[in-house]
Amino acid sequence: MSDKITFGVNGQKYSVGSEVDSDVSLNDYLRETLNLRGTKYMCKEGGCGACIVAVQALDEHGLLRTFSVNSCLVSITSCQDWEVTTIEGVGDRGRGYHPIQRTLAEYDGTQCGYCSPGWVMSMYSLLESSHHDITQHEIENSFGSNTCRCTGYRPILDAFKSFAKDAPKPKLEDIEDLKPCKNKDNCGHTCEKSWCFVNANDTGNTIKKIYLKDDRIWYRITQVHDIFNILDTEGYDSYMLVNGNTGRGVAPIFSFPRVLIDISPVKELKGHYIDQNLVVGAGTTLTDLMDIFKTVSHQQVEFAYLQKLYEHLDLVAHIPVRNIGTIAGNLMIKNRLLTFSSDIFLLLETIGAILTIVEKTTVHNVTLEDFTLIDMTGKVITSISIPPLSGNYEFVSFKIMPRSQNAHASVNAGFLYKFDPHDKETILSASIVIGGLSAHFVHARATETFLIMKKIFNNSILQQALHVLNDELIVDEIAGELSPEYRRKTALGLFYKGLLNLIPEKKLKPWYRSGARDFRKTRPLSKGTTVFDTNPIIWPITEPMPKLDALVQTSGEAKYVNDIPKDPREIFCAFVTSDICTGEIESIDPTPALKLPGVLAFFSAKDITGNNNFVSQRVLGQMAPEEIFAEKEVKYYDQAIGVIVAETEKLANRAALLVRIKYKVDKRKPILTISEARKRNPSRVSLYIIIPARDRGLDVHRIIKGSQDISWQYHYPMETLSSISIPSEDGIDIYPCSQWTDSVHVSVADALHIKQNRINVTVPRCGGAYGLKINRTNHVACVGALVTYLMNRPSRFVLTIQASLRVIGKRLPCKSEYELGVNNSGEIQYFEYHIYEDNGYVFADQVSQFVTTALKNCYNNTRWEHKIFNVTTDTASNTYARAPGSLEGISMTEYVMERIAYEINMDPVRVRLNNLNSQYPDVAEMVQTVLKDGEYDKRKEEVKKFNEMNRWKKRGLRVAMMSYPISIQMDYHILLSVYHADGTIAIKHGGIEIGQGMNTKIIQVVAYTLNISIDKVKVKPADVASVPNNYTTGGSRTSQLIVFGAIKCCQIILDRLSVVRESLNNPTWELLVETAYNQGINLQASYHVNGNDHQPYRVGGVALTEVELDILTGEHEILRVDIVQDIGTSVNPELDIGQIEGAFVMGIGYWTHEHMIYDENTGELLTDRTWYYKVPLAKDIPLDLRVQVRRNSYNPIGVLGSKGVSEPPICLAISVAFALREAIAAAREDSGHHKTEWFDVDGPYTLEKNVLKSDARLEEFLFT
Ligand SMILES: Cc1cc2nc3c(=O)[nH]c(=O)nc-3n(C[C@H](O)[C@H](O)[C@H](O)COP(=O)(O)OP(=O)(O)OC[C@H]3O[C@@H](n4cnc5c(N)ncnc54)[C@H](O)[C@@H]3O)c2cc1C
Ligand code: FES
Ligand code: FES
Repeated sequence: MSDKITFGVNGQKYSVGSEVDSDVSLNDYLRETLNLRGTKYMCKEGGCGACIVAVQALDEHGLLRTFSVNSCLVSITSCQDWEVTTIEGVGDRGRGYHPIQRTLAEYDGTQCGYCSPGWVMSMYSLLESSHHDITQHEIENSFGSNTCRCTGYRPILDAFKSFAKDAPKPKLEDIEDLKPCKNKDNCGHTCEKSWCFVNANDTGNTIKKIYLKDDRIWYRITQVHDIFNILDTEGYDSYMLVNGNTGRGVAPIFSFPRVLIDISPVKELKGHYIDQNLVVGAGTTLTDLMDIFKTVSHQQVEFAYLQKLYEHLDLVAHIPVRNIGTIAGNLMIKNRLLTFSSDIFLLLETIGAILTIVEKTTVHNVTLEDFTLIDMTGKVITSISIPPLSGNYEFVSFKIMPRSQNAHASVNAGFLYKFDPHDKETILSASIVIGGLSAHFVHARATETFLIMKKIFNNSILQQALHVLNDELIVDEIAGELSPEYRRKTALGLFYKGLLNLIPEKKLKPWYRSGARDFRKTRPLSKGTTVFDTNPIIWPITEPMPKLDALVQTSGEAKYVNDIPKDPREIFCAFVTSDICTGEIESIDPTPALKLPGVLAFFSAKDITGNNNFVSQRVLGQMAPEEIFAEKEVKYYDQAIGVIVAETEKLANRAALLVRIKYKVDKRKPILTISEARKRNPSRVSLYIIIPARDRGLDVHRIIKGSQDISWQYHYPMETLSSISIPSEDGIDIYPCSQWTDSVHVSVADALHIKQNRINVTVPRCGGAYGLKINRTNHVACVGALVTYLMNRPSRFVLTIQASLRVIGKRLPCKSEYELGVNNSGEIQYFEYHIYEDNGYVFADQVSQFVTTALKNCYNNTRWEHKIFNVTTDTASNTYARAPGSLEGISMTEYVMERIAYEINMDPVRVRLNNLNSQYPDVAEMVQTVLKDGEYDKRKEEVKKFNEMNRWKKRGLRVAMMSYPISIQMDYHILLSVYHADGTIAIKHGGIEIGQGMNTKIIQVVAYTLNISIDKVKVKPADVASVPNNYTTGGSRTSQLIVFGAIKCCQIILDRLSVVRESLNNPTWELLVETAYNQGINLQASYHVNGNDHQPYRVGGVALTEVELDILTGEHEILRVDIVQDIGTSVNPELDIGQIEGAFVMGIGYWTHEHMIYDENTGELLTDRTWYYKVPLAKDIPLDLRVQVRRNSYNPIGVLGSKGVSEPPICLAISVAFALREAIAAAREDSGHHKTEWFDVDGPYTLEKNVLKSDARLEEFLFT
């Protein structure tokens, strides 16, 4: 007899039992069983926040609490007694929207909208759990859990901060009326609202036992000894204790063990008490631990130091993980994965906490360090004893991570010193623990011993200690982590930084003081301002209004591909990929995979009925074929070789790993970079274009030669590549998340070898795209369609984050080589300029053409000779990424300008202006605006002074200038239908709404042209039966062109209506339409926009960025950014400012911490998860972001005077890199490097580059 787990969702009661598998998560259950698809997912590892829901449950004291969780991490069988609120339970069109949903929409907090339900649910939980008693600062600090790749966060933060008790008056009036659960304060175990349902009967001492569908047994227990009883019965060979189950976000679990024991209800493992020690239950969640530390540190002086631990815990994971993740769970990950830089382990070991570990009949008390050596089979951590410490102890700790929040530590360190109370300088004992270095390094024992009885606060002892520490550190290579050199240097830096925090002020030379500050704990509140023009006379054109679909996005009602409900006969796909880099396939044996029940089929190249190519050459601009499945030759690690088809998505992914492939392995080391390709196989380099110089100056004052490498960027759409295929009566209906319906359409037709008119392609919208979905979606669409075609069943193919990163290409890495001569004003006299673009294994996407037009940027290039080369490497086929080629071209040129400025020691703005192309007065004008509004001269002086006065924090203030080429796009179709009965309008068009707000702009323009209200107009998803043969959405131009086509359609309709209008006396729109209909007038119009309808133009922009860099750790803070961007006369400036901010922040990621690491020997990508690949989060954005659009701008060759906006601003983010470079340069000067000495920084300015390039010497770590 199997038990049931009962819980509530949005007020309805549900139960699960033996019908579910062990790997069914709350997210799966919500989306697939309940079809509540407003809750999204992306990473399934707690890294992105798309899946967050709110939970109400009783805590161990019987109090009802609300907290957020990542539904992707929670097993459905863990949900006993939970009342789950999803986005559907918060508000919708029918019941009315919740103020959080409305506020987020109103403040432009959505673009593609895929992340929005997750944000709303995080905020909802935060307000509920804090009883609305929360400050702006607390709100800003609370979203390490949520990623948004589109907006740049500023509008989201603004929206949410408006709910704070210290916020200025909110934009939405009814925020004030927002109240949490009315009964909260009096709440015992129930609540008047149905969604507060809690079944108090289920909290007794009962064991639940469920035989799960996949032959696992799920136990839910309430006492520790139940564990041993169960293990005695079930055996110790295959079991797992389950608490929060968040550990799988750190170390993924592909298949659960046979016996699963849910220990989360065990009260013995929770709570705390103080004997002499503070004893905390090991099953205490990290959120509760923080609360305990906060309370106890205020109440008892001997535990005052716990406040510091609280601050460190605030940097661990993020709120939803901390809400259910426990101390013991964290420590057990460390026990099994010694290289895991656990912060919990670090903190507890530093302070000398003791773990109590219980076996069936014995109890052990061990130190944390000893715990790492114990085989924990059959053992349970029950509690942690935390010692009281007298006022003679000082504790400091640091967590160094690539971004502000939600990243594991690259290096972390804890220091506990006992000082002699008489002189407060002599160390009586020391505990120094450093994490992230290697599997076995824990304590710096030799340093601890050395320090005893030493008066630490003098240079000589410090230096000696640093040398002892340096000698004893064991730092190993760890796959996916930063280099040992960086981690060693940072470990030493943290030791010094710790002491800088403790040294009495009078003993420290002020020059060194800045080393003490920890950015992660001191960041102030961020803010932003925007300035734009609008003309109310012509509203709704130029009217700043939020996206018209923002509300359906914030409420989860907006549908994305993977929200199409599941068909009962649906099957799921997963790529089978190569686990060699290059070689030949000898044989493929899918038998082990096919043996798994529920695995249905395996298909490879030989099963493809048409062309083995997912980018048909019958589509404009798709130059080379790319195999759907490698037929013989393997070109890169993780190339797709086949597809496994199974009853569930998880099964398909698991089974895919079981397919056995034999290869004839090519033994050579893979070629992963441009430099390697050039050195080892020049035939991989081909000249794309030469543009000769037209002039040469003779005033050569200095010759400069150099090179620079920049690298990949993963697009990181929150909706990964997805496609659903459904058999139709005459063919297949395909729903891909694609920017380019025609490319999917033709490629699938070719791959299946069936007629195009048997295939319908419909794209509802894209949850982020950034170029990735121009033609990479074709890969999953072709495979999904093939599976449907071969099996005559609906198929669903949604790439995991790992597959997205491994199988699919990214932004093209790029190398420049240059030699130039300049005069003494930095003006270029001659310039030999070579650019190499890394296409991956094949030159398929036409990215080099965009380098060609962007490379000159805003400068006079008559004396430049450009050569652009295409290079192939042994990596995935790289593809378009926001500002493809243009970002590379503009950045490389800006880099050269920086170099000139350094070499001749001239202001970099001056150097740029001396090379500015007189054809671009717009740029010159915007430079002046930025310099004036950004107080460049004054702040430049301030930065200089700051750098003179501070050794360990340095600032940089730098500009980037841009003239971005917007090219011609070819074909788009627009179909406008007017309904005769009420005069409403439906539009279909060939563009794709990817978050840029295209549909809102179309509606604004149509409403304006027809002189009707905007609520009369709707845009429907694109499909190729209605609007065929379209070019891709991209190039920052599609919105404009569709708007152009929509105006043309309106004019056609108006022409047809004009005769009727004349026959009526000033008719209403409705009467006019109805009359026309009755007269048999065609109320549908279409227009085909082609290349003759528009011309290329350029978009100017300037940014001025100030950063502060921590020289000891490599962390930075972006203090202020001023952007001036030309968007012409925008149809909707509010949306366009969103594009500017979002693009800029995506660029911040590219230049600071988005970083790929490949195994040089195998070619395997090591940074393939959110655990490793970090995009910016809310606290990574500039502290002060000021965006203005160029005033009174009108683009005479743009539609309605507008300019493209989505891509150009990403190019301005290189100003962040330059500012960091200036900061590094200032640090190098202190270390003895000459001011004008150039140093190259390749790729992003990671923690590692920042520290190593700053080149501080150990001897400089001093107090006086
Ligand atoms: C996105 C994300 C970010 C994170 N960031 C950080 C970070 O910055 N720093 C950091 O230190 N950690 C970080 N973590 C790790 C996080 O702290 C742990 O996942 C969490 O604490 C694990 O607790 P849990 O209850 O969910 O463990 P579970 O996942 O339930 O269990 C983990 C393991 O512990 C075992 N176990 C659980 N309880 C006991 C017990 N009482 N006795 C014996 N064995 C037990 C289980 O059998 C299992 O093997 C992060 C995790 C995620 C998902
Ligand atoms: S899907 Fe749950 S956090 Fe990403
Ligand atoms: S709006 Fe946040 S990811 Fe697109």
